[in-house]
Amino acid sequence: MRRLVLLLAVGMVFLSRGYSISAPDEGMWLPMFVDRLNYTDMQAMGLNLTAEEIYSINNSSLKDAIVGLSGSATPNGFFCTGGIVSDQGLLFTNHHCGYDVIQQHSSLDHDYLTDGFWAAAFRDELPNENLSASFLVRMEDVTDSILPFLSDTLTERDRRMTIGEITGRLEERASEEGKYHVNVNSFYGGNEYYLFVYEVYQDVRLVGAPPSAIGKFGGDTDNWMWPRHTGDFSIFRVYSAPDGSPATYSDDNVPLKPRHFLPISLKGIEKDDFAMIWGYPGGTQRYLTSYGVKYNLEHFNPAIVDVLGKRLETMKEEMDADPAIRIALASDYAGLANAWKLYIGQTRGIKRLKLIDRKTEIEDKFTAWVSEDPARKEKYGNALSDLKSGYEEVGKSIKPLMYLNLGLLGPEIVDYASGSAFYELLLDPKENKEMIESAVQSRKELAEEHFAEYHAAGDKKMLVAMLELYVKDVPADLHPQVIKDIHAEYKGDFKKYADDLFEESIFADKGRMMSFLDKPSAKKLGKDPAYILSEGLYNHFYAVAGTYRQAQGSLSKGERLFIAGLREMNPDKVYYPDANSTMRLTYGSVQDYIAADAVHYDYITTSVGILEKEDPDNEEFIVPARLKQLIEDKDFGPYGNADEMVLCFLTTNDITGGNSGSPVINGDGELIGLAFDGNWEAMSGDIVFEPELQRTICVDSRYVLFVIDKYAGAQNLIEELKIVK
Ligand code: ARG
Repeated sequence: MRRLVLLLAVGMVFLSRGYSISAPDEGMWLPMFVDRLNYTDMQAMGLNLTAEEIYSINNSSLKDAIVGLSGSATPNGFFCTGGIVSDQGLLFTNHHCGYDVIQQHSSLDHDYLTDGFWAAAFRDELPNENLSASFLVRMEDVTDSILPFLSDTLTERDRRMTIGEITGRLEERASEEGKYHVNVNSFYGGNEYYLFVYEVYQDVRLVGAPPSAIGKFGGDTDNWMWPRHTGDFSIFRVYSAPDGSPATYSDDNVPLKPRHFLPISLKGIEKDDFAMIWGYPGGTQRYLTSYGVKYNLEHFNPAIVDVLGKRLETMKEEMDADPAIRIALASDYAGLANAWKLYIGQTRGIKRLKLIDRKTEIEDKFTAWVSEDPARKEKYGNALSDLKSGYEEVGKSIKPLMYLNLGLLGPEIVDYASGSAFYELLLDPKENKEMIESAVQSRKELAEEHFAEYHAAGDKKMLVAMLELYVKDVPADLHPQVIKDIHAEYKGDFKKYADDLFEESIFADKGRMMSFLDKPSAKKLGKDPAYILSEGLYNHFYAVAGTYRQAQGSLSKGERLFIAGLREMNPDKVYYPDANSTMRLTYGSVQDYIAADAVHYDYITTSVGILEKEDPDNEEFIVPARLKQLIEDKDFGPYGNADEMVLCFLTTNDITGGNSGSPVINGDGELIGLAFDGNWEAMSGDIVFEPELQRTICVDSRYVLFVIDKYAGAQNLIEELKIVK
C-alpha cells in the first residue's frame, strides 16, 4: 500500500501505536528484536533461515535487500518499499509506487503510463532527479540517552525541544561526518526512541514498467479490494559511484553491488504457507482510544472524503477532456483517489466492526486499574481525559484545515501567487535594488517553467469548485476574511469572481507576469487578486493550524501516558510499536477468508479472471491485446500450468501504507510476491488488526516474471534474475 502523503505543511500527528498481540499475523516487528521476540514463532510457522540470516549488522542478511523509497536525499520516511533482486542492484517495487516517476517520463509522444516502458540496455534506463533508495545499516535503542533528560514538569513544547536537541546530537554523531543519513524515531508514543542509520543512494533509474492496463488493471474500482487481477509491479535499478558508495546521478556511476539480493521462487504458493513481508509501513493507530476513533469517524474522515470527492470529480472532468491533462494529473489523481477510498473504507470498518465499543472496553479496564492505586492515579489519572478534550479541540479545526489543505490551497494559482517576501522587498525599491534584481531573475525562470505546463482553464474550474465547496460546508465563523470579502463583493458568484481573477491577475498569464517582472511594483502586486486570495488563504491556514497544533500538546501527552500505563498494566504482553516509517517485518501465512455471511474468498486469483473482468468500454478494465492472446493461447511458459496462471494471492500479514512494493518472502528467503494492497472488509485495519478478516494482497512473482518475459520479451532482465525452480 502506498503511503498517503497528505500535503499538509504543519506537523500533524496522526495518533498511533498498537495494542497487543492476539494472533501471530498481527504486529509490525522491529528487525533488531526478531531473535528475542519472534524467531521461535517464525520457525514453527515455516521459516528455514537462521535469525542471523535475516537480520545481522555484521554480516550480510536479508534486511540488506530491503529498500526504502523516498523523494529525498535525507529521508525521514518512505513512501514505498522495494526489494533488491539481482547482484546488479535491480529493484522490484509496485507499479503504483513507480507511477509518479513513470508519469514524469511520459508525454503524448511516449506515453509510458499507457504503453509501459522497457529499457533494452543499461544505457536506456531513465534517471530520476527526485528518487532515492535507502538501505538500513543498523538500528539502536537510544531511549536511555533521551528519557532521563526529560523532567516530568516540562511543557510538551519544551519536551519536544529538548528531544530535538538530543536527537540532533545523536544523529550528528552516528552520521560519521555525513557518510550516513541518521534518524532518531519515537516509538510507543514517545516512551522509547531508536536510532536508524541509512545509506541513501540517489541514482535510481527506471528499468521497466508494464502498461497501466496490467500494472493498474481494475483501476480505482478494484483498488482496496479482492479479488484482484493486477500486475502491480515496476522495476528500477540502484546505481552507485564506481567504488560502491552512494552518489548522485552521474554517467560514471555503476550498478550497485548489493550486500544481499532475493532469489525469485517459481515454486508457487499454497494455503498455510509461511510468508513474511519486510518493508517500511508508514503509520498505524493501533493505540488509538475511543475518543480518537470517534474523532476519525465524525470529523477527520468526513472532512477528507468530502473535500477529496469534489476535487477528484473536478480533476476527472479535466482529464477526460484533454489527453495532455490526463497524463499531467494522472499521478496526483491516483494518489488522492487512493486516499479518498481508504477513508471511506475506514469509516465503514469503524462502524461495522464496532471499534468504538472495543476501544471503550480497553479504556474501562485501564480506568479501573488506574483507580486501584493512588500512585497510578497521580501518574495516569489524566491520560484519558486529556485525550478526550484534545480530540474535541482538534475536532473543531480539522474541517477548515482539510478544506484548505486538500481543497482551496490545491489550485496551482493559489500556490503560485503565494509568498509575501517579494512584496516586502518591493516596498523599498531603492534599499532592496539588488535583491529585487535577483528575485526578478529567478521569478522569470520560474514563470517559464510554470507556464510551460499550466492549464489555466482547468485550474480556474478547480478554484471555483473549491470556493463553492468551502462556503457550502464550512461554518461561516470559520471562513477566512478574504472569502467573506469575495462572497460579499460577488454576491456568492464565485464563477464570476474567478473569471475576473483570471482576466486580470499577473499569475494567470505568462505575458502579464513577464511585463510585471520588467517593471515590478508593490502597488501592482498588492492589488493583484490572486495574490490577495493566496495571502488571505495561507494566513488563515496558518492561524487554524496553530490552534490545531496547540490541542495536539494534550494529545501527545495523553497518548504517551496511556500507552505507558497500558504496558505497565499488562507486563506479560509483548506490545509491538505502531508503524512509523521504520523498517519492520511481519509474518503470517497464505490464507483465504470469509468476507461476509456466505462469502468465502479464495486465496489466489488466476488469468481466467482477467478475461472475466475484461470490458473494452471501460478504461479500467481494458485488456491489452497481447496479454489477451497469451492468456487465450495459455502460453504461460514456466509461470503457469496447462490452463491458467496465478496472478495475485492473499496473506495474513500485517501491513499498511508504505509497505507497497514490499517483498513477500517464503521460508527459504525467496521472493514469492510483492505486497500491494489491503482488503475492503478490513479497511479500519490501521486502528485494529482483524485476524479473521484482514489480508495483504500480493502480486505473485510468477505473474511478474511472466509479464517481463512473455509479455514484454525483456530477456535481459530474466537472465539477470536468480530464479529458483
Ligand atoms: N491501495 C493501494 C495502496 O494504498 C494502492 C493501489 C493503487 N492502485 C490503484 N488502482 N489506484 O497502496
